[in-house]
Amino acid sequence: MQRIFALVAMVAVAAIAAMAQPTASVWEGIYTEAQAARGSDGYGKSCAACHGASLTGTGEAPALQGAQFVSDFNGETVGDLFDRIRTTMPQDNPASLPRDQYADILAFLLKENGFPAGAKELDRRSEYLKAIRFEASK
Ligand code: HEC
Repeated sequence: MQRIFALVAMVAVAAIAAMAQPTASVWEGIYTEAQAARGSDGYGKSCAACHGASLTGTGEAPALQGAQFVSDFNGETVGDLFDRIRTTMPQDNPASLPRDQYADILAFLLKENGFPAGAKELDRRSEYLKAIRFEASK
């Protein structure tokens, strides 16, 4: 009996580990154009004051577009970037926006960094976004 429990536990652990492995890529069209358009508005309201209207950064706030930004998150997951933004930004009022709005703004950032749009909206659940690799090149 105990061995069966141990076996079931091992299978469950293996299944969870497999789920946690990023299987998709940021290059596969993970947000929609409509979502990025909404995100553009949200960015203008909540982020542009510090990061600049054209995402090039101002003062302490770094650029959110370009090689440096992409390399900062290269090798992480889209979920890591989502959580980073969701829990620490806007810097003067962290975690103040609804998840949907953070997802829309992230879609806008992806678009501005040249990642392609697709047919399905970017999810607002970090667990799902952690299955998507953020990689500088395909
Ligand atoms: C009050 C100013 C301010 C506002 C508003 C603000 N940020 Fe920031 N942001 C900063 C500063 C300063 C940093 C650098 C310090 C840090 O990393 O926490 C930063 C860092 C970041 C980083 C990390 C960039 C990197 O390459 O490491 C991201 C991503 C980011 N902000 C996204 C956003 C988004 C998205 C919004 C809007 C929802 C936003 N920020 C609003 C000031 C701001």
